[in-house]
Amino acid sequence: MPGLGRLVVIGLGLIGGSFAKGLRAKGLFREVVGVDLDPQSRRLAVENGVVDRCERDLAVACQGAAVIQLAVPIIAMERLLADLARLDLGQAVLTDVGSAKGNVVAAARQAFGADLPRFVPGHPIAGSERSGVEAANGELFRRHKVILTPLAETDAEALSRVDRLWRELGADVEHMDVTHHDQVLAATSHLPHLLAFGLVDSLAKRSENLEIFRYAAGGFRDFTRIAGSDPVMWHDIFLANREAVLQNLDAFRDDLDALRAAVDAGDGHHLLGVFTRARVAREHFGKILARRAYVDAMHTNDLIYLAQPGGRLSGRLRVPGDKSISHRSIMLGSLAEGTTEVEGFLEGEDALATLQAFRDMGVVIEGPHHGRVTIHGVGLKGLKAPPGPLYLGNSGTSMRLLSGLLAGQPFDTVLTGDASLSQRPMNRVAKPLREMGAVIETAAEGRPPLTIRGGQRLTGMHYEMPMASAQVKSCLLLAGLYAAGETSVAEPAPTRDHTERMLQGFGYPVAVDGNIACIESGHRLVATQIEVPADISSAAFFMVAASIADGSELLLEHVGINPTRTGIIDILKLMGADIALENQREVGGEPVADIRVRAARLKGIDIPEDLVPLAIDEFPVLFIAAACAEGRTVLRGAEELRVKESDRIQVMADGLAALGVKAEPTPDGIVIEGGAYGGGEVYSHGDHRIAMSFSVAALRAGAPIRIHDCANVATSFPGFLDLAARAGMGVREEGK
Ligand code: S3P
Repeated sequence: MPGLGRLVVIGLGLIGGSFAKGLRAKGLFREVVGVDLDPQSRRLAVENGVVDRCERDLAVACQGAAVIQLAVPIIAMERLLADLARLDLGQAVLTDVGSAKGNVVAAARQAFGADLPRFVPGHPIAGSERSGVEAANGELFRRHKVILTPLAETDAEALSRVDRLWRELGADVEHMDVTHHDQVLAATSHLPHLLAFGLVDSLAKRSENLEIFRYAAGGFRDFTRIAGSDPVMWHDIFLANREAVLQNLDAFRDDLDALRAAVDAGDGHHLLGVFTRARVAREHFGKILARRAYVDAMHTNDLIYLAQPGGRLSGRLRVPGDKSISHRSIMLGSLAEGTTEVEGFLEGEDALATLQAFRDMGVVIEGPHHGRVTIHGVGLKGLKAPPGPLYLGNSGTSMRLLSGLLAGQPFDTVLTGDASLSQRPMNRVAKPLREMGAVIETAAEGRPPLTIRGGQRLTGMHYEMPMASAQVKSCLLLAGLYAAGETSVAEPAPTRDHTERMLQGFGYPVAVDGNIACIESGHRLVATQIEVPADISSAAFFMVAASIADGSELLLEHVGINPTRTGIIDILKLMGADIALENQREVGGEPVADIRVRAARLKGIDIPEDLVPLAIDEFPVLFIAAACAEGRTVLRGAEELRVKESDRIQVMADGLAALGVKAEPTPDGIVIEGGAYGGGEVYSHGDHRIAMSFSVAALRAGAPIRIHDCANVATSFPGFLDLAARAGMGVREEGK
């Protein structure tokens, strides 16, 4: 935006000063002029390079300005706006930094009239322990969120001008409407401050409570830290955002009353429910949301893996628990009568999304702690309406399976997900569920979010699945728990059968006859113990790694080898891999083995199509095996790969090409010529399995591989980098 004229910043405190200083350093404006009532601040602002010059007089400063930033305390805003309205501001764009927006907009309308095309209300969510112009820091907003709340009449050019300025300062800009902003801030910032101020005061003014301060331990200190904030500023904010604060406060008072009643009645179940939900919300979702909100949206979520070439794998390792089984353990454990204990639960973001969804529907779930989860089942009819939409992150399994189960509930639900999940096809479940009587709304082309209307009468039916999908099959069987009569699903090829097995494990009859699974409503699930085996889909990375890295020998312990999942082993063996299953046993209805893998010379093959559904999640890493094999590997009949967490055919083909591998995508597969390859930059497109596959590829690369966008590895394989390093792979997070 070179050639912009003058930026005027009114109010040279921490926020105004930092805004001025950062933009001045960027040289976007011909000059940056500060206005402040305090002569000391004006002097310091010039001395410290915050502005080019200062003015006392508003009219002189603003005459012919391009952008005017209002950075005065919220209480002074009304007066300032009235003063500005008396001036000729020409084409200047007006913006502000107030932490409540409704009142600023109302004041602006009062001052300027109802129409405010050149006013762009804004709110940077940033601060510092320090204050005043002397603390101004041009980097203050980097990686911080700035919310702009444009009005219906806001001029597009004015909005994009302000938007651009904040982005230049490294901020992550979001647009929101005014009311929404004030509600969100009331909940996330204003209410906690009110409670902290209020609690400290309440304790302090009772003299008998003085003891509390003497013995103040972590709990008091941590909870009340924000009561040390600026009282005047906060007093302003509560007056400015009164309505939204009151609404949130009232809702909280109801919940507090319920907690009080539970303590009074000795209702441990209620307390445990609140505390376990709160804890996970705080710890886990805090992390996910913080990453998504503050980092992803800025496109600097780019967690980069740097994989060094070469390496040899050895030792024994146990990869985390099976993702499919972990999801189902929470679902069925919640719907069972009694307490289900799960061991080996996968503490990855996908399975945790399912866990959180059930907590939101009133199920008390303890853990996970070292893979142990205790689920206090509520029975098939015991779920409660969740307080809001169920956010399922990256997890297609959660969304598809839940949609079946939720179609039969008496309440409405909304299912949402991240950017990748929001692109995935849901008609494959919505369509048959509708045939059973469900009412489901989707976004365009059957994409999420899904709104599932409760209180429908579902009727069982027979469904011939057009694609081999365990998710669709499971979705319909779960709906069948609530549908009148029988629900049966025929699959065109075998897919994973964990749902059928686990339903039986919970004592619920499922008839399996050839390719048809059939369930009838009216039975019940009885709590049980579940031991989740290690996930063969996670073990797959190490199977390929040990196969392609010369001199490797690795033992993968306690891996689930359900025959509907072992396509990876069969395909690798066809390619000449040296894989042996040892110590085969059955654990809780699922076959398990230790898998020994030794390095071998792989050769290219035509992958038998009947193995495709049995290895559906393992193709990204199988493509790496193919790149290291002698000759050509051909995959057909795998169009499903195009609608996974990413288009796995295209994304892998692009990555392989970047390394110099000849890889030709086809509509339903890929043709890969094995041979030597180099290093380079590859993009996982946020797909966990692609990120891990290219980490494996480095074992045979001629140079390092930089893999972009790896944060989602945490969805299925927490601790991947540590395990990989322990096994002998040279992959780590860049910069660590
Ligand atoms: C899953 C089934 C598969 C698989 C997914 C997990 C499951 O999806 O890709 O990772 O747990 O049922 P489809 O059934 O859609 O192929």
